[in-house]
Amino acid sequence: MDVSDKNKILFHQHSWGSSYGYPLFIYDGNRIQMQFDRLSKALSGHNHEIYYACKANSNLYILQLLARKGARLDVVSVNEGKLGEMAGFSTEHIHFTPNGVHLDECREAIDRGYSISLDHIPSIRHLAKERPGLPLCIRINPAVQAGGHEKISVGHKASKFGLAIDQMKEIAKLQESGAIRVIGMHIHTGSDISDVQAIKKGAQVLLEQAKPFSESIEYLDFGGGFKVSYYDEDQSTDIEGIGHWLTNKIKAFEDFCGHSVRLVVEPGKFLVSEAGYFLAEVTQIKQTYNTQFVHLNTGFNHFIRPMYYEANHKIEVWGKGTKSHLKKYNIVGYLCETDTFASDRYLPEVEVGDILVFHNAGAYSYSMASQYNQRLRPAEILMLDGKAILIREREVFDDLLRKQIPLD
Ligand code: LLP
Repeated sequence: MDVSDKNKILFHQHSWGSSYGYPLFIYDGNRIQMQFDRLSKALSGHNHEIYYACKANSNLYILQLLARKGARLDVVSVNEGKLGEMAGFSTEHIHFTPNGVHLDECREAIDRGYSISLDHIPSIRHLAKERPGLPLCIRINPAVQAGGHEKISVGHKASKFGLAIDQMKEIAKLQESGAIRVIGMHIHTGSDISDVQAIKKGAQVLLEQAKPFSESIEYLDFGGGFKVSYYDEDQSTDIEGIGHWLTNKIKAFEDFCGHSVRLVVEPGKFLVSEAGYFLAEVTQIKQTYNTQFVHLNTGFNHFIRPMYYEANHKIEVWGKGTKSHLKKYNIVGYLCETDTFASDRYLPEVEVGDILVFHNAGAYSYSMASQYNQRLRPAEILMLDGKAILIREREVFDDLLRKQIPLD
């Protein structure tokens, strides 16, 4: 997807390097707002809530932008929740979805006023003993295979997430005894799900499992995972189609319950991925036995998705002149181990000093970046209404020393 009209001229000024240096993350704030509006419209057939999955991009400014749009926040750590609170999300609009965390963190989240999804019976029992009648959302594992890569498919039987369906008997007993009150039920089957049938299959399991709890259920959370397209011919989730389907299903569920039930989704990528661009500079062009390499002044320390999920991100070349003939390259980084961004990729002929622009770098890019090889993390810029705002400074050498305790 293209840069929004409001930021097009700004984005293509091509002088980012002189102001902020490369590599650099640039986000299109207006695109984020448009994605939110699009999803909201797709779900407008029913009372719904959009919880932004904070892990995708937890920059405070982006959180603020989404809070002001009316988003709520899905967090996987209390630290994410605290950032959300600083950005203006009220604590009752923050939902904590832990997996395998210490009970103390659950207690802290509950005490801060967050709602919580749990998927571990001993933890539920513990917390219920301390807080009888605890209102809870239960995460189930729908036993559905979905997602763009094995590492991000989390709704299948062998996944660590969610309760197995036959464990729901235990939950029913806890509810009957008054130990807990099941107010929500939740699935999240994976990320990059373009297969609408898989989304529907997971949702059907959720709707079915929620029926015995119909009296207390206040919302159903269908998770995130909507796919955006990473390159020109790539697929994306039919968000309007799935929105229509979900709203109809939840209406039928409401009829069954005899009271209102909110429709909840918790997307990360859908809201921020396409709004982000990662810009890096060509440092070397290197021919070896059979391969022409383009080296960049970055590596998977800054942008891990291609290496970790074999993700194929569209790459644009900002060169000194427009070259029309294509050459085949392996695009690689500067790390001390293999760090390939793309293999056998045809690009307009590249020169040292050109800038490669990776599309779809708004989600799980900066938030997964590290200081590996003692490289500094880049700056982040937000374009909003045609203006550029620095929303995170580039790191400096001192950031590498912070918290280190050297010998005397
Ligand atoms: N809800 C839960 C419980 C999740 O675990 C996730 C993502 C989401 C919502 C949001 O999923 P999304 O809409 O962004 O697909 N680092 C990987 C993605 C990991 C997703 C982890 N959980 C990647 O770059 O593809």
